[in-house]
Amino acid sequence: MAAITCIDDLKQLYRRRTPRMFFDYAESGSYSEQTFRDNTEDFQKIRLRQKVAVDMSNRSTASTMIGQQVAMPVGLAPVGLTGMQRADGEIKAARAAEKFGVPFCLSTMSICSIEDVAAHTTKPFWFQLYVMKDEDFVDAILERARKAGCSALVLTLDLQILGQRHKDLKNGLSAPPRLTLPVMLDLATKWRWGLEMLQTKRRGFGNIVGHAKNVGDTSSLMSWTAEQFDERLDWTKIARIRDKWGGKLILKGILDAEDARIAADFGADAIVVSNHGGRQLDGALSSIRILPEIVEAVGKDIEIHLDGGIRSGQDVLKALALGAQATYIGRAFVYGLGAMGEAGVTRALEIIRKELDISLALCGERDVRALGRKNLLIPEGFFAEYR
Ligand code: GLV
Repeated sequence: MAAITCIDDLKQLYRRRTPRMFFDYAESGSYSEQTFRDNTEDFQKIRLRQKVAVDMSNRSTASTMIGQQVAMPVGLAPVGLTGMQRADGEIKAARAAEKFGVPFCLSTMSICSIEDVAAHTTKPFWFQLYVMKDEDFVDAILERARKAGCSALVLTLDLQILGQRHKDLKNGLSAPPRLTLPVMLDLATKWRWGLEMLQTKRRGFGNIVGHAKNVGDTSSLMSWTAEQFDERLDWTKIARIRDKWGGKLILKGILDAEDARIAADFGADAIVVSNHGGRQLDGALSSIRILPEIVEAVGKDIEIHLDGGIRSGQDVLKALALGAQATYIGRAFVYGLGAMGEAGVTRALEIIRKELDISLALCGERDVRALGRKNLLIPEGFFAEYR
């Protein structure tokens, strides 16, 4: 195997080793995939200002996220079905994050359950919640997260209804996969994935199956969302969850300055500027392009995080320079996981940290917390292009 030197190398290996249905699940956006593409392409349009003859010794990528020390401001985003990308995927990713010193956030729609991840890690991780219609279930899962020692709740606000991803429908995406002839032919070439999957019991939605009432073992995210997610989620219901949880709260999926203002007044600890990786509202702006508007509106009042399109340390640097306190990677760590398991997640984090560190030095900076607009070159009218 050729040397792995960048996130794209991990992606190529991931593609070769992962069943098509799960590769497609990660590697798609909703509908035309415009927003999905914009997320990465808009990062490329922003350039960095080089500075020379500046003492670049004693650099640091360390920072904080909601008061927690991090080796670099890059968390592992909640990603559904991570344990289908590689057997026991959430446990592997959580362990890699813990050793590296960055937060791991477990998705409601994970394969390994909250308790299972807690049993295989030593430090607190974060839990992401999708609000379901069944309040008893919501209360119970909050209690489970608290008992497992989760140190923050990430409440996703942009997926009470699912943006259609064409490939998932065409592939009949489910966990575990239904063994149709095309799936079996595909699996025949993904023997490593299959062998590991046979050795684990974790092959369904671990947080949900057997925990929620009136729910069979439906295995598709599509039918789950349609049946269970609460379309009436509003700020009153969010307040109920905030009060019930009582701990650190991060509101994810904010793309509008007014929404950001409400979130800030609401007493959340952070917001995540996010379009759900281009998987929900196709046609929404890329997260990096909307970021300055949100920073201007609430940057003094609440911590702002960003996800969507980050595939390199340079991307992280750009987001920080535009006012994000921190960022998340979703696909970039999934590529590493599918390619090489826990070691691949560690590799993805190492690649990004090294890129961030070297770019920081060449920008003439020594501390990621000191980055600002001064470090960037941005095309005329870039942020004003859409109004
Ligand atoms: C769910 O979180 C998804 O985006 O598929």
